[in-house]
Amino acid sequence: MRYAGVIFDLDGVICHTDDFHYKAWKSLADSMNIYFDEEINNRLRGVSRMESLDIILERYHGPPLSNAEKLRISESKNMHYKNFIMQMDESYVAASVLSTLHELRENGVKLAIGSSSKNARLILDRIGLGSFFNAVTDGNDIEFSKPHPQVFLLAADKISLSPGECLVVEDAFAGIEAAVAGGFDCVAIGDATRDVRATYTVTDLEELPGIILRE
Ligand code: BG6
Ligand code: MG
Repeated sequence: MRYAGVIFDLDGVICHTDDFHYKAWKSLADSMNIYFDEEINNRLRGVSRMESLDIILERYHGPPLSNAEKLRISESKNMHYKNFIMQMDESYVAASVLSTLHELRENGVKLAIGSSSKNARLILDRIGLGSFFNAVTDGNDIEFSKPHPQVFLLAADKISLSPGECLVVEDAFAGIEAAVAGGFDCVAIGDATRDVRATYTVTDLEELPGIILRE
């Protein structure tokens, strides 16, 4: 086996919450008269909630905001976002993703989640994968968000493997950068396939066993 463990990003890899993030940020930006579009939204991929807010506020021209106000704004976005998450169920995991996860697990590969989101455990519960992974590390466990490698290093540690023994799967540039910084090989999917730093690129997770299980 080429890799003994796989660390998956959650949003944009296991399931798709991008549109929920976009709608919640968009309604907040509209309420503050801030220009926001899909291209700016792409820059939020993999980045923590507060750092995402800072990116959105680059286009804010109103009176200065205190840290307490920024926190209140981010909490209000999160409440809106969580209403969308509560609509999620097992149908939000593609059949090919689920069968790939099972195939890897049946072959003895350790599987972990390494997500910047503080809602990762809630999302995993909603999509029926709350107790599937060997370890979950998320935005609640880390001090430094992607592109810092902390979330992946912690995940590797929790499954008792070194970075060299693990493969990271990511849809964000920030996530690819984090994987490379942590000494991990990485698979890019979706938006991240444009990142030349990725070790492999795939169009569907079902290509993973071919990469991971070979000698
Ligand atoms: C990442 C998303 O998974 O989580 C980012 O790609 C998001 O877009 C980040 O900003 C933080 O999410 P949350 O759920 O903690 O607000
Ligand atoms: Mg992602």
